[in-house]
Amino acid sequence: MKFKALTAMAALLVAPAVMAGGPDDDSLVINEELEMVTETAAPDHLDALDTIYSGWRFRTDETQSLQMDDFDNPAMIFVDQAIDLFNTVDGSEGKSCSSCHENVEEFKGLTASMPKVIDGKLTTMEDLLNGHRAEAMGADPWKWSGPEMQAMIALIGVQSRGMPVNVAIDGEAAPFWEQGKEMYYTRFGQLELSCASCHEENWGNYIRADHLSQGQINGFPTYRLKQARLISKHNRFRGCIRDTRAETFAEGSDEFRALELYVASRGNGLTVETPAVRQ
Ligand code: HEC
Ligand code: HEC
Repeated sequence: MKFKALTAMAALLVAPAVMAGGPDDDSLVINEELEMVTETAAPDHLDALDTIYSGWRFRTDETQSLQMDDFDNPAMIFVDQAIDLFNTVDGSEGKSCSSCHENVEEFKGLTASMPKVIDGKLTTMEDLLNGHRAEAMGADPWKWSGPEMQAMIALIGVQSRGMPVNVAIDGEAAPFWEQGKEMYYTRFGQLELSCASCHEENWGNYIRADHLSQGQINGFPTYRLKQARLISKHNRFRGCIRDTRAETFAEGSDEFRALELYVASRGNGLTVETPAVRQ
């Protein structure tokens, strides 16, 4: 099994001669004032890596530059739409978000701590918003990866931009974190590749035309140029698992919640970059 996986990996990776190349040395300052931590010591629980890097460090100069100024960042259109949405009445109670929340700025810091356990349940930002829409507004849930949901998550995320990711992995979170960790190292699909096969053992290498990063989620939702829209974390997980030719889990499944917590914890110490721009 191990041998087969290695062969699959070798077939995916391009020739060793052009494999060289870790992250670049650029530093990310947004709008010429907001300094991001794109490189820092790996959190204690992560033995396999010394240093963690934001995915931004693996992109081309051209893609990187789009994230350096909000006027160039194509995701900001969606953030603006979410501001309108924040003020729009929806649901049976005749309320908008702004009926109860004066300003989105009150959510500063929230994104850096998500997902987290609330009332015994591992809760993502999507869960928080939909639960809340049902209870506080009498409104229908938003689709997990739908435009309203991801735009609102981006808007809330922007309030925490530049703050270090710091998800809790102990106490009530521990069993979810263990589940996510196990998934991270599970080999999926015909190619028998785990998340770790690519993002822990081969980051810095090229896989087809893609410069492999450590698969961090501090920039999510991210704007993907290829898809011209905001991509949710779970959508990205699905895409990666599908690439191993495996059946995948559903967006919003308990499995992906646990995986999200574990992946987020691998980025503890990097700053929230939401919304990042990727190829
Ligand atoms: C009827 C009043 C009401 C409306 C309408 C409302 N909220 Fe809330 N919201 C609250 C209250 C009260 C809390 C704190 C208690 C809780 O978590 O339920 C809260 C909490 C939150 C939190 C979690 C904050 C934290 O730090 O844990 C988020 C995020 C949030 N609201 C976003 C929204 C968004 C986005 C909308 C519109 C789609 C919205 N709310 C509409 C009353 C409201
Ligand atoms: C066959 C190799 C492969 C496997 C296996 C794989 N990925 Fe990926 N992943 C990629 C490639 C290629 C990209 C795009 C380039 C990049 O950002 O690393 C990517 C991107 C990502 C990103 C976006 C990073 C960013 O900064 O935008 C995340 C998050 C991610 N992967 C998570 C995962 C998780 C979680 C798993 C396991 C369920 C996984 N990947 C399995 C190849 C893989």
